[in-house]
Amino acid sequence: MNGDAPACRDENAPLPCVGMFDSGVGGLSVARAFLKLRPGARVRYVADWEHCPYGALPGEIVLGRALAISRELAAAGCNPIVVACNTASAVALAGIRAALPDTGIVGMEPAIKPAAALSRNGRVGVLATAHTLSGGLFRGTMCKFARGVRVIEAEGAGLVELVENGELDTPRARSMVAKALAPLLEGGCDTIALACTHYPALLPAMRAVAPGVLFVDPAEAVAQRVAALYDRAAGRSEHK
Ligand code: DGL
Repeated sequence: MNGDAPACRDENAPLPCVGMFDSGVGGLSVARAFLKLRPGARVRYVADWEHCPYGALPGEIVLGRALAISRELAAAGCNPIVVACNTASAVALAGIRAALPDTGIVGMEPAIKPAAALSRNGRVGVLATAHTLSGGLFRGTMCKFARGVRVIEAEGAGLVELVENGELDTPRARSMVAKALAPLLEGGCDTIALACTHYPALLPAMRAVAPGVLFVDPAEAVAQRVAALYDRAAGRSEHK
């Protein structure tokens, strides 16, 4: 597949609109990656700033917000819908899929598989919110893909707030990033999966703090999946 004009779509049919949401600006990392693959595609993005950060809220509230926003996006005609937030995916992905069975739903999954494949010393770190680390999605991904590697987990306390405030590579940002990464670096991780869509915005600070470490951002892989669903919704032929 590529970004050319559709081979067999009804020219009068409206182009699909991709719905995406996150607690704030984090999911824009996924939106950007998708728009690189499908420039000009329609995207409706919801930043739930009133409830940001999700990591600080009880799971039931995050679930309620994620369901309400997904229903709104579906009612506005969005298909697929991307839960561009690891925390909301951990808490609500199954519920959203059950509530909207006719809509393609894409969620974020901690990138343990690519991180395990890239690690040279078999020590992989996962940086995420507490909800993500305690969720069944993370545990399931660990069971499936963490064979043969040691996985060390760390919570990125305060990092979402840094990104929301636009404090991406200040001395304070570097010191908070260093604190969050400390358990992973002390554990000898040479590869770290960024399991919160806000964290890639802190990559310059992370690379300054941990120069030899490989950071894995799943945005591009998720964007590929979204592009495939978008093409299907647009009636775009798989085979050109
Ligand atoms: N971008 C969200 C995630 O991927 C941020 C979580 C939060 O708001 O605490 O987990």
